[in-house]
Amino acid sequence: MTNPAVLQSKAITSPADAQGATMAAGVSAVLGTYRPAAPLFTRAQGCRVFDSDGNAYLDFASGIGVNALGYGDPGIVAALQAQLDTGLVHLSNLYRTAPGELLARELVAHSFADRVFFCNSGAEANEAAFKFARRFARGLGGAAKHEIVALRGAFHGRLFGALAATDRPALQQPFEPLMPGVRFIEPGDVAGARAAISRARTAAIIVEPVQGEGGVKPLPPAFLRALREIADDADALLIFDEVQCGLGRTGRLFAYEASGVTPDILTLAKPLAGGLPMGATLVVERVAAAVQPGDHATTFGGGPLVAAVALHVFGRLADPEFLAGVRESGAHLERQLDGLCALSSVSEVRGSGLMWGMELKVAAGPVAGAALEAGLLVTAAGEKVLRLLPPLVIGPNEIDEGVAILHEVLS
Ligand SMILES: Cc1ncc(COP(=O)(O)O)c(C=O)c1O
Repeated sequence: MTNPAVLQSKAITSPADAQGATMAAGVSAVLGTYRPAAPLFTRAQGCRVFDSDGNAYLDFASGIGVNALGYGDPGIVAALQAQLDTGLVHLSNLYRTAPGELLARELVAHSFADRVFFCNSGAEANEAAFKFARRFARGLGGAAKHEIVALRGAFHGRLFGALAATDRPALQQPFEPLMPGVRFIEPGDVAGARAAISRARTAAIIVEPVQGEGGVKPLPPAFLRALREIADDADALLIFDEVQCGLGRTGRLFAYEASGVTPDILTLAKPLAGGLPMGATLVVERVAAAVQPGDHATTFGGGPLVAAVALHVFGRLADPEFLAGVRESGAHLERQLDGLCALSSVSEVRGSGLMWGMELKVAAGPVAGAALEAGLLVTAAGEKVLRLLPPLVIGPNEIDEGVAILHEVLS
C-alpha cells in the first residue's frame, strides 16, 4: 500500500482522528485528477468562504460559476429543508414527482424551448444534446447526417462526446479515439462555417455564446445570426451551450438574448440547483418529437431534492429586478476593471454582467495563486486569462475590495 493517506490512517484509532490527521498533513485519498489549493475550507457565508484557520476569502470564482446566490442563501436552505421534510430525496424517473415537472414548466415558460431533459452536469447536458440532435437528424438524412460542428476554443466537458467537441488537444489525446464525426471551425469565420456545414452530413452546430474556459470570449452577434441561417439552410440544429454563461451570468437570463438568435437546443448546468449537481437540455418541440422513451436516461436526473432547490434558484435568477441588479453590479465591476487596464501586466478586459476575463501579459495561474494568498478566490481560463465570476449577489463594496486585491497582485 503506497498511498500516504492510507498509511497514515493506520496509526490512528478513530475515523475522526484519521480524517483530522490526514487533512492536517495535506494528504488526500482523492484520486489525483485535481490539484486543489492548500487551504482546507470549512464554511462559507454570503460572498465569503473561510478556511480551517478562520481566514476569510472573498469569492470571485463562485465554485466556477455555480454559486450564483452566494453561500447560505436562506431560500435555498428553506427549499432543501421543505423537500427533505417530505422524505422524497429520490424516486427515479420511473415515477412522477412535482419539483422536476414544475421546474421544466418554468424553464419552458422563460425560454424558446418546449421540453426539458434533466441530468447531473454540464457535460451530461451536452451529451444529451448530441444524442437528441443525432436522433432528430437521422430522421432527416439517415446515419450519414451525424456530424457535430464545434468552434476552436470551445469547452463542452470531459465525457467522450463532449470532449470530442472540446478544442483542447492536451485533454483529448490521452483518451483517443473520441466520438468521431466532429469538425471544428474558427469563431467568426462565416465562410468556414458554410464550408463545414452540409445538409447531407451535419446534425448540429454547438457554440457557447460566450466562450468561458476558452478565455471569456463573447461571440459576435452577427456570427451567431449567420450560424442560425447556415443551420437552417442545412437542416442542422443549432445548440447553445450556456452551462457557464447562462442563467443570469451575463446580466440576462440567457446569454443568447443579447444576440436575438434562438437555438434549437440549449444546455444549462452550473448555477441551476444552487450548488447541487444538475444539468438540463432544453429542446424545441420538433426535436422532442423525435426522441422516444428509452432513447436516453439517467438515474438521478431531475430528482425531487435538486429540482426543488433549482425551482427556488431559477425563480430568483429569472426575476427581472434581480437581473437588473446583475447588470448594475456588472457595470460597476467594469468601471473598476477599466482602472486596472493601466497596469503593465494587463492587456485587455472583456465581458458582460458578472462574467469577465482579464487578458494578461503574464501567466494567469500564478496570479490566481497570489490572489488566493491575499484573500481572493479567482480562477484562470486559459494560459493568460484571469476569469472573474463573482456570485451574482455581490455588492459594490465587495467588488471594490476584490478589485483592490487584484490591483495589488497585478502591480
Ligand atoms: C461551457 C461549458 N460547457 C460544459 C462544461 C462542463 O460542465 P461540467 O463540468 O458540469 O461537466 C463546462 C464546465 O466548465 C463549461 O464551461
